[in-house]
Amino acid sequence: MNDVLVEIERAGDLQQVVDLLHDRVGHYSWVGIYLTEGDELVLGPWRGPQATEHVRIPIGEGICGAAAASGETEVVDDVDSDPRYLSCFVSTRSEIVVPISLEGRVIGEIDIDSDEPAAFREDDRVFLERVAELIAPQAACAA
Ligand code: SME
Repeated sequence: MNDVLVEIERAGDLQQVVDLLHDRVGHYSWVGIYLTEGDELVLGPWRGPQATEHVRIPIGEGICGAAAASGETEVVDDVDSDPRYLSCFVSTRSEIVVPISLEGRVIGEIDIDSDEPAAFREDDRVFLERVAELIAPQAACAA
């Protein structure tokens, strides 16, 4: 994944970042970036087979809202057994949400759904937390 990190460092905008993540990592079935706007998360660039109906999520709701509220990464191995889960795609089995923070404030997050159960491991968390750090300045401009 280090080569993907190098490409992400060079990416011109957040759409390129989600495209790279989706296209280069096999188990990342749907990739989106939400940006905070007041007490809501608003969907920015995304890439995947389908659009989601959840384009605005109140902070505190869903897996996305939980990660934004706590500022901590959320990993859900089985979305069907998590009562917080807001369903987007019938094919989704697991999800990771990684906050994007700048100067101690959550300004957005990376949300990835996988069609594989328990798809996200420690290396995904470390990788995506690094991606979140790299793109924080771009996310701050986009927010
Ligand atoms: N599943 C998320 C909602 C966003 S979609 O996955 C794109 C959640 O529970 O917050």
